[in-house]
Amino acid sequence: MTTPRQRHRRGRLAAVGGLAAAALAITLAVPAQAAGSTLQAAAAETNRYFGTAMAAHYLNNSTTMNVVNREFNMITAENEMKMDAMQPNRGQFNWSSGDRIVNWARQNGKQVRGHALAWHSQQPGWMESMSGPSLRTAMLEHVTGVATYYRGKIHSWDVVNEAFADGNSGARRSSNLQGTGNDWIEAAFRAARAADPGAKLCYNDYNTDNWSHAKTQAVYNMVRDFKSRGVPIDCVGFQAHFNSGNPVPSNYHTTLGNFAALGVDVQITELDIQGSGNSQGEQFRGIVQACLSVARCTGITVWGVKDTDSWRASDTPLLFDGNANKKAAYNYTLDALNAGGTTATPGGQAGPQPTQQPTQQPTQQPTANPTTPPPTGGGTCTATYSEGEKWNDRFNGVVTIRANGNISSWTSTVTVRSPQRIIATWNASPTWPSANVMVMRPAGGGALANGQTASFGFTVQHGGNWTWPTVSCSAS
Ligand code: XIL
Repeated sequence: MTTPRQRHRRGRLAAVGGLAAAALAITLAVPAQAAGSTLQAAAAETNRYFGTAMAAHYLNNSTTMNVVNREFNMITAENEMKMDAMQPNRGQFNWSSGDRIVNWARQNGKQVRGHALAWHSQQPGWMESMSGPSLRTAMLEHVTGVATYYRGKIHSWDVVNEAFADGNSGARRSSNLQGTGNDWIEAAFRAARAADPGAKLCYNDYNTDNWSHAKTQAVYNMVRDFKSRGVPIDCVGFQAHFNSGNPVPSNYHTTLGNFAALGVDVQITELDIQGSGNSQGEQFRGIVQACLSVARCTGITVWGVKDTDSWRASDTPLLFDGNANKKAAYNYTLDALNAGGTTATPGGQAGPQPTQQPTQQPTQQPTANPTTPPPTGGGTCTATYSEGEKWNDRFNGVVTIRANGNISSWTSTVTVRSPQRIIATWNASPTWPSANVMVMRPAGGGALANGQTASFGFTVQHGGNWTWPTVSCSAS
């Protein structure tokens, strides 16, 4: 297992010249840097994101927003991108609340999980009363309309939410959407893929955490069927709403691992756990440990910031109290992230799009900024940026190129922002189309088999601008 930190070390040791020696000396003098001091930084140690749900009203509360900006690098709109919010009248989309959240996220270097394109709940009134073929058409128009509008801005979409029944039946939930035919789920996924080929497409549900539960098995069987028939699904979201009647199961890592083995990413998408003190903390730790034990568990999102903002506030289920103070659960979560685990290896079907340059300097940037270009011949590649060492005047970055399918070579483009300058590189050959754009090519042979990685590094003299570079790659 190679952690990002180890990769940085390896890159640094491969560097030549006095700069590398100076870097090594400085880093050794600051050993305390090992642990991430925020959730997003600690998750980044294993190439994972850490996110939160965010309601539009958070934007009016600077205390909450400071926490969001500091701790999280993935944002889910709590309600603002649901069907009723997005299309209040048939054919009339209302993007305003969704845009406020998506724009804030992108302007602050965060990525966005889209939630949710098709769901039996929180439908607009006009849709609730529909059925049959006309509802199927309306649902597909909604999926296409929303996914097209946000195309290129969404890391992962919850394409279908909560389509299975609770209890022991393993059946689909009865709903107006289910009434349009059993194939409504795959129809939604196909429409979403056509509308935004760059977003990961997830099925999202709750009570799917315990491997032995019928609902878990039913969703598993659907995903296995979709993968075998080529229905475009990239990820499964586990909402992870826990309370005393539905505790964190001891076999959670088994559940996540078995889904991942089907060839999908798994994500914890709406985590909240009733309780307080150390016992609540221990349960958060269990979730983090389960995710970190599965390489395709690529990130965790909690369902809100402060207990008082939670949809079930009386359960005090979040990581911050009503005054935005860190709870014991926060410390357990941070420590579990810092304890490390597998390095996350997301699948290659799709990836997040580059975010706009932040208008303000974010306190932390996302660790991963992959892009997946259209196929060029055989496979494609994904470029992921990882933060390296930092000094007063400069910082190191490492780009990992991952092959999705076999590729014979790759090129990777790194864009820095004025007044930044790249002053050193290693492990690849640079060319300079313009002052702030560097194109890297393999120093030797660039062939990579499916799943293999290569990495290169560079040093940026930042001139006061700490914005992370944008990275992308294309395969041939
Ligand atoms: C919840 C929101 O948090 C509430 O504000 C809203 O009133 C109801 O929905 N599963 C989901 C989420 O997928 O969208 C739900 O969010 C919580 C359960």
